[in-house]
Amino acid sequence: MKLPQLKIGELVARIPIIQGGMAVRISTGNLAGAVAAEGGIGVIGASGMAFDELSREIRIAKEKAQGGIVGINIMFAAREFVGIVQTAIKEKIDLIFTGAGFSRDIFKMGSGSNIPIIPIVSTARLALTAEKSGAAAVVVEGKEAGGHLGTDRSVWDIVPEVREAVKIPVVAAGGISDGRDICRAFKLGANGVQIATRFVLSEECNAAPEYKRRYQTARKEDIVQITSPVGMPGRAIRTAFVEKILSKNPPRPIGCDFCLKRCSLEYCIIQSLINSQKGDIDHGIVFSGENVWKIKDRSIKPAKKIIEELVSEAEEVNDC
Ligand SMILES: Cc1cc2nc3c(=O)[nH]c(=O)nc-3n(C[C@H](O)[C@H](O)[C@H](O)COP(=O)(O)O)c2cc1C
Repeated sequence: MKLPQLKIGELVARIPIIQGGMAVRISTGNLAGAVAAEGGIGVIGASGMAFDELSREIRIAKEKAQGGIVGINIMFAAREFVGIVQTAIKEKIDLIFTGAGFSRDIFKMGSGSNIPIIPIVSTARLALTAEKSGAAAVVVEGKEAGGHLGTDRSVWDIVPEVREAVKIPVVAAGGISDGRDICRAFKLGANGVQIATRFVLSEECNAAPEYKRRYQTARKEDIVQITSPVGMPGRAIRTAFVEKILSKNPPRPIGCDFCLKRCSLEYCIIQSLINSQKGDIDHGIVFSGENVWKIKDRSIKPAKKIIEELVSEAEEVNDC
């Protein structure tokens, strides 16, 4: 089957693949721009970035994208949520994805500038609320996803429910690791897919080589759920730090810059994500989707090649 285009508002992506936003500094302008240049939608993980840093990354992405579509992803739980959204609007971002919750106010901010807002949801009820509030599309994320999780249900169960509930475009996310999964999502009524884990294994991904190596060697049993001070569970690869979280003995935060609106202070989530992104894996969290171990070829390659593979795999599926 030839994959259809993905239309969101007035934007049309030639390839219906969104590269999921990944914080902190895992998906920056370089990766987002590369994905957008290939006809997909590239997303900068903006949580944890300073405003001027985000401006720079958006400019890098746009230059690389050559007219392709670039978005940002910001966690609603971030204290600087409004400032990040305002910065992205000022830089004329194409799309804004909001993870870990949303408020109706965000749609007012987007409507003045005509920028589509796309909440990430895990229930049909929230998808409907998002649609009524003005969302241009919804990303439906299941428990298979990496990072913070809003549900313990599979994406394959939630997508048909959301499809029935809303008319706006539906994007399936979580555990989609090959073309067969992409076809499955379309058969359930999705208009596009959001994929993150597979793009960590790209040359353009901004994670340290040691971080990517954890992705290359992870086995099924290495993927675990952890508690997060954000107040939602998270999915990650076992590391020394993750073991401490699992045994309820993580190091308490040293200092705090109040990066979250609300934080349990169980440990410092932002510092642990910064540590791992820089390669200090023993003191960090490596977020990952549930199906990282299923990726057939875990070599590091250009994002362009990953997109080509996903598209050709999907197009080879007969009953797609
Ligand atoms: C390393 C990593 C970091 C992530 N960071 C964020 C984030 O900052 N905000 C967000 O909404 N989702 C985040 N996610 C979720 C992804 O954007 C995506 O929806 C999900 O991981 C898709 O599942 P997959 O990784 O199995 O493809 C992250 C995922 C990973 C793997």
